Amino acid sequence: MAETWTPQSWRSKTAKHIPDYPDQAALAAVEEKLKSYPPLVFAGEARNLRASLGQVAEGKAFLLQGGDCAESFAEFHPNNIRDTFRVILQMAVVLTFAGALPVVKVGRIAGQFAKPRSEPTETQNGETLTSYRGDNINGINFDAGVRMPDPQRLMQAYGQSAATLNLLRAFASGGYADLHNVHRWVLGFVNDAPASELYEAMAQRISESLAFMAACGITSDTAPQLRTTDFYTSHEALLLGYEQAMTRVDSTSGDWYSTSAHMLWIGDRTRQPDGAHVEYCRGVKNPLGLKCGPSLATDDLLKLLDILNPENIAGRVTLICRFGADKAAEHLPKLLRTVTREGRKVVWSCDPMHGNTIKASSGYKTRPFDRVLKEVQTFFEVNRAEGTHAGGIHLELTGQNVTECVGGAQAITDGDLSDRYHTHCDPRLNASQALELAFQLAEGLRAERQGTPAPLAFASMR
Ligand code: PEP
Ligand code: CO
Repeated sequence: MAETWTPQSWRSKTAKHIPDYPDQAALAAVEEKLKSYPPLVFAGEARNLRASLGQVAEGKAFLLQGGDCAESFAEFHPNNIRDTFRVILQMAVVLTFAGALPVVKVGRIAGQFAKPRSEPTETQNGETLTSYRGDNINGINFDAGVRMPDPQRLMQAYGQSAATLNLLRAFASGGYADLHNVHRWVLGFVNDAPASELYEAMAQRISESLAFMAACGITSDTAPQLRTTDFYTSHEALLLGYEQAMTRVDSTSGDWYSTSAHMLWIGDRTRQPDGAHVEYCRGVKNPLGLKCGPSLATDDLLKLLDILNPENIAGRVTLICRFGADKAAEHLPKLLRTVTREGRKVVWSCDPMHGNTIKASSGYKTRPFDRVLKEVQTFFEVNRAEGTHAGGIHLELTGQNVTECVGGAQAITDGDLSDRYHTHCDPRLNASQALELAFQLAEGLRAERQGTPAPLAFASMR
């Protein structure tokens, strides 16, 4: 018998990667205040996402999840939110049109602040301070005061999440996402990329199809699906005190939901079956992600599925595999086989970012685009071999023209990284790289349908 779950039952378990706040009373006061604040999302929306992910689990849709590694207070700007939304929309159009599958769009946005760190402290010139843990916890500047965890930052993170979500809702339903605008979603700086030409050609065909449909009487007025889109939010459920404060009972079902985002995921470093993060997540009905890295044993995975999804509901759990380009072929097959053999319903998603981080000789953390592509290709290959659906992709990306990941059609080099390296944590794909990847994913989906290996979308990919 499982022990009784409550929003605070995680507090009696070991909680990794949660900071020690020097002023516990101040933290408690902030959490108490947040408890009385409006929910950011509604239970019904989380249920809709769960149902859509159920379609993904059954092979009838594709999950596109992406955004910043860590949102920051400094980069909070409507243009940044628009650009992230826009590149995800562009990718979704490519996947829907070329891959011929409905796309479930989930941002790593409107709450993706807190970060687990490999080192708890950082030393510079003989001085040792707490590592930067995300803007909702402490600041990035190397200064003793700034690095001290400050509960007031949770208030600012809540406010930023609310405003971000408000704009995203407006973009999704206020006309911007109308499919008739497909030509306008193009980001200026990607104009010369090969992906951009392909996108333009595809947008042209979509416009022709829309004109044909209009002649048949199907317009944005008669078919609202053409005018609006569903866009969901997600973040890592790391800072459990915040999640607890945002946990509410849904009056319709009587179930508990985290109202901080539609979907939450458990990180690779906090997925201990007897740990606090798994304990918190098992009790909320939001769809959950679980990061699966090389250290995850198959029996632990089954144990985690028992805990997180005892009723085996399709769409409840998304397994986000992040092994690294060279390790995926070794690790992925045994997970796929075990889960399939046990009849567990899951979404298989690929995070080709977190296993492919390297330190460039310039000193910057980067990810080579060809490594990212290779892990994606391996993911499709292994799923094809096992007869499972390559269900989704989980990316760190931005709509900005940053230089954080090397390679891609812009051929960003190690020497270019210092030009526009803005991330507060891990390196992100820029819009050009994200769009290229979308065309490669579309090839993967097409090949899955035909049961053939996926060709490379661009000659430049070798
Ligand atoms: C992340 O998604 O930013 C992250 C920390 O990933 P992981 O838990 O897979 O390392
Ligand atoms: Co990251």
